[in-house]
Amino acid sequence: MAAYERCETDDFVEQGGLAAPPPRRLSLQLQAYLRLLNWTYAGWVVAAFLLVHSVWRGSTGPLPDRGDAEACFDPFRSPGYIFRPSNLSIRHVPFPPSASLDDLTSSTAIEDAIDPPDDVLSLAAPAYGDMLNEKVKPSELAFARDQSVWFIGDSHDRMNLEVFCRQHEAGGAVLDVPHWHIKANCRFPDLNLTFASFFHYGLAPESDSLPPDAWNIPALPSSRENENPPPYSVEGRLREFWVPAVSEVGRPSMIVLNSFFWDLRYFALYAEHFNHHEFLRRKERPLTYSELAWHRSRVRVLVEAVREAFPGVPIMFRLGQAHQTNRNEGNVEVFQLNESLRAVLAKLDVPIFEWASLLTGESRYADDQHLQAGAPARLYADMAMYYLRRAVTGWDRCDPWPASTPHRRASLNR
Ligand SMILES: *[C@@H]1O[C@H](CO)[C@@H](O)[C@H](O)[C@H]1NC(C)=O
Ligand SMILES: *[C@@H]1O[C@H](CO)[C@@H](O)[C@H](O)[C@H]1NC(C)=O
Ligand SMILES: *[C@@H]1O[C@H](CO)[C@@H](O)[C@H](O)[C@H]1NC(C)=O
Repeated sequence: MAAYERCETDDFVEQGGLAAPPPRRLSLQLQAYLRLLNWTYAGWVVAAFLLVHSVWRGSTGPLPDRGDAEACFDPFRSPGYIFRPSNLSIRHVPFPPSASLDDLTSSTAIEDAIDPPDDVLSLAAPAYGDMLNEKVKPSELAFARDQSVWFIGDSHDRMNLEVFCRQHEAGGAVLDVPHWHIKANCRFPDLNLTFASFFHYGLAPESDSLPPDAWNIPALPSSRENENPPPYSVEGRLREFWVPAVSEVGRPSMIVLNSFFWDLRYFALYAEHFNHHEFLRRKERPLTYSELAWHRSRVRVLVEAVREAFPGVPIMFRLGQAHQTNRNEGNVEVFQLNESLRAVLAKLDVPIFEWASLLTGESRYADDQHLQAGAPARLYADMAMYYLRRAVTGWDRCDPWPASTPHRRASLNR
C-alpha cells in the first residue's frame, strides 16, 4: 500500500529550485529564424504564430468573441510539441491552429539545433510560474489578484501545491498545511492569491466507513494518529470542509477535481470485503465494466454536487498519471479509468486538466505513484494560472469551450 501513503516531503530531492534555463545559442537561432522567414510557407506559419500569440499573450485584455476558433483554442489541450529545456521545466507548444495540412507537412531541413526557435516557443502558454516567483509581480499577473484556485483531489494535488510553494518562496509564497488529509494552502500575500488543495478518500460512500461495518477508511493501516480523519465521503467533505473554506480563502475562481488512485484501491478492498472472485481482490488488475460504470455514476454525483455548492465556478478534472513501474501491468487500470472519465466528463462539459498526459515519459518518481519535486509542479503552476486567467476573463466566452477534448478528438467527439 506504500503507493497510497502520503509522501514525506523529505523524500523529495529538490532538483535545484528555479535554476535558469540552459543558455541558448541566440545568434544561431536568429540566423535560422531569418532563413525560415525567406520561405513562403514559413512566412505564413510565422504570421499565424504571431497572430495567435498576440491574442493570448495580451493577458489583461478581454478575450475575443465567442466562437473565435484561433483565440479560443487551449494550448494545453491541443496537439503540440513537448519541450523539456531542462529537468526543471516542461513547456507545451501547441501547433498553430491556423496551420493548414500543407503548412504542417511542408518539409524543412533537419537542423543542428536543440531548442525550438524563440518565436515558436512563445506560442506556449506564458510561464506564469516563473512570473509568480518575482518579488515585484509583473503586470501580466494582474488577473490573479484576489483570486483562488482550488484543487479537490488526492496527495498528488497537495504535493504539487507543496512543491510549487517551496519553489516560489522567492516570490513570497506562504505554505500552510493544517492537515495532509484535509487541506493545504499556498498563498501569495502581495496578490492576495490562494492555491488551495482539498483532500478526499475517493468516491466510496460514507456508509462503508461507519459503524456497524466500518470496513473501508477506518480499517486501513495507518502510521500516525488521526491520519485519516472523517468525513470519509466526498458528500461529507463538501459539507464540512469545502463549503466552509470560502470564509477562509474566498470563493473559488475555478476548481480542478480529481478522484482516481483511492478509487483504484477501493475496488480491491471492496472485492476483499464482499468476498468476490479471487482475481478481483488483486491490487493491480484490469478493472471490470461494472466498476467503471459505478465510478462514472459517482463522478457525476461529485461534479453535480460541487456545481450546486459553487454555482457558476468553472470546473475541470485532472486524470491519473501512469505508475512508474507498471507492476502487474498496473497501468492498464490507469488507462481504463482515464478513458472512462474522458467519456463521462465530456458529457458533463467538464474539460480535462491534461497535466498527467503532458508528463508522459517522466521517470523521476518518489515512489511508484508520486513524482519528485521538479518539472511536474512547474507545469502544474503554469496550467493552473493559465486556466485561472481564463476563468477570470470569461470561461464561457469560447464555443465549444469547455466541451471539446482535442487530445482525443478522434475517438470521443460528442
Ligand atoms: C535529468 O535528471 C536525470 C536524473 O537525475 C539525469 O540523469 C539527467 O542527466 C538530467 N538531465 C539534464 C538535461 O540535466
Ligand atoms: C482577498 O481576496 C478575497 C477573495 O478571494 C476577498 O474576499 C478578500 O477581501 C481579499 N482580501 C484583501 C485584503 O483584499
Ligand atoms: C492515462 O493513463 C495512461 C496510462 O496508460 C497514462 O499514460 C496517461 O498519461 C494517463 N493520463 C491522461 C491524462 O491521459
